[in-house]
Amino acid sequence: MTKLCMVIGHPVRHSLSPMIHNAGYKALSIDDQFSYVARDVDPDKIGDFVNDVRAEGIRGVSCTVPHKQLVIPYLDKVDPVAQKIGAVNTIVNDSGKLTGYNTDWLGAIGPIRKLAAVKGKKALVVGAGGTARAVVYGLTQAGAIVTVCNRTAEKSQKLAQEFGCDSAELADDLIQKADIIINTTTVGMNSKETPLYTDKLHTGQIVFDAVYSPYQTELLRRAKQKGSTVIHGTEMLLAQAYGQFKLYTGQDAPVEPMRQALMKEARP
Ligand code: ATR
Repeated sequence: MTKLCMVIGHPVRHSLSPMIHNAGYKALSIDDQFSYVARDVDPDKIGDFVNDVRAEGIRGVSCTVPHKQLVIPYLDKVDPVAQKIGAVNTIVNDSGKLTGYNTDWLGAIGPIRKLAAVKGKKALVVGAGGTARAVVYGLTQAGAIVTVCNRTAEKSQKLAQEFGCDSAELADDLIQKADIIINTTTVGMNSKETPLYTDKLHTGQIVFDAVYSPYQTELLRRAKQKGSTVIHGTEMLLAQAYGQFKLYTGQDAPVEPMRQALMKEARP
């Protein structure tokens, strides 16, 4: 019998996850065993949905906005990393027992590690929401020296306290001195805005944007002009999906076919 996996969100119709995961199943010739779809789940109905997951024997569920926190009380177990981050983006169903995981932090750290060592590097995280929590977790685990900046200062202060890093107001010298800059805010999503002043960016820095629509955000366009090394939001989307793929199927994700499937859609 085919094992069904799905992404849930509200809305969810623009999700690229089915395409990424199904490309992986196909590449490993397990598309007769696994299938991946998208399902819109109303936040008020999340409890009913979790019951359906058990009743229908759905193998895995990827959670996006607004379900990452809402789903937690309905699970049998939440692994310690997801607990620390405070969000579940992955549910695995083992014979009716549901465990929540978080692979978003892998989405942050995986693409950076491919380019540079992270230990001891100065990282500037812009934003203090759910994405920022996963990013800060990943960076602090990897030994980076993290500073969090957010429009609402109380939120960045609280996050920094929780994860044992610094918070500050977003200032020119912080931008200039950072080795790694990550935008976790929604600023730049389908707009020409940038989440930070880009004049101080320079070569030798890594600039990573969690926003993947458009593929080339204004932040990344300007960072490239300044000579920074850029990481597109699609890399975050992919790297968290690789983690999910392994949890759902037990097999290592076929990285290249999954990337190619996404790029066909995401890159203009
Ligand atoms: P996610 O789960 O995707 O991280 P979120 O938890 O809603 O989403 O967090 C969104 C982040 O983007 C927050 O840090 C938010 O800043 P505030 O805490 O001040 O709300 C940030 N953000 C959203 N719009 C912004 C804007 N126009 N300028 C600056 N920051 C913005």
